[in-house]
Amino acid sequence: MIAESPRPSVLLTRRIPSSVLARLEAVCNVEVPEGSRALDEPELARRVAGKQGLISVLTDPVTSAVLDAGTTLAVVANIAVGFNNIDVAHARRRGIVVTNTPDVLTEATAELTWALILTAVRRLSEGERIVRRGQWRGWTLEFLLGMELRGKQLGVIGRGRIGRAVAAKAPAFGMRAVFAARSGRSTVSDELSLDELLVSSDVITLHTPLTQDTRHLIDRRALARMKRSAFLVNTSRGPVVDEEALAWALRERLIAGAALDVYEREPEIVPELLAMENVVLAPHLGSATRETRTAMIDLAVNNVLAVLQGRPPLTPV
Ligand code: GLV
Repeated sequence: MIAESPRPSVLLTRRIPSSVLARLEAVCNVEVPEGSRALDEPELARRVAGKQGLISVLTDPVTSAVLDAGTTLAVVANIAVGFNNIDVAHARRRGIVVTNTPDVLTEATAELTWALILTAVRRLSEGERIVRRGQWRGWTLEFLLGMELRGKQLGVIGRGRIGRAVAAKAPAFGMRAVFAARSGRSTVSDELSLDELLVSSDVITLHTPLTQDTRHLIDRRALARMKRSAFLVNTSRGPVVDEEALAWALRERLIAGAALDVYEREPEIVPELLAMENVVLAPHLGSATRETRTAMIDLAVNNVLAVLQGRPPLTPV
């Protein structure tokens, strides 16, 4: 008689749609914490013990301590394209596969980026606040004038999937897209050095992963190089921008405006930004469409099932 191998156990840090959960439960024991409260590091470490799989979200601290507590872990599947919440180097040392959810969220994030660009340059949220406060006195020739996009330059920092998808939509608005050269020096015609991009772009949009090299890439020095009429948009990771420096640049009118979807210490925001009219503040909505979130969860589950069933992961990092 062949002994049945025990069912693997998977920890889910968040509830997922029951149809996807059912696929996981068909082959695994699944633990989902009660309620919607995020698990902190000690609790994550405690719960991951004895599990073969962990399905995490981008706010879960999958630190070396958590990975060490998961002595039986084979796979960590992050429901996010970013994976700066996971100590990937430590996972690699421990032989744990880490996966993310690229591609499926590219268009949603690119669309949100354009929503932020348009909102910032046409002062939409500023206008909506005036309307809601009952302060709108009617149409006038000079009320809330914004910046037209046609003929302007879009500077894209990060030439990955999302950066390219954002750039691909630029011609629809009559904009010319340029990318920051990865090597620092331009080798192709649509690439500029970071400095050249900063001084010449009208809208600068960030699509780089958060690494030691990109932390505070946009600091006081970078902001001071931007045109006074330019806008900064961030849908990547908060710490790519030095938020205090951004507040300074907006206060001093060194740049015209900014639109942010991500922050250095989410959900906290530098208080000064909250009071400013020339900054659009979104609550980390880049991938937040029904279609994309469903696809992200599906992909994370497929990654876990692949590894636990001895197949190669679909999207390892
Ligand atoms: C969202 O921020 C993601 O990384 O998926």
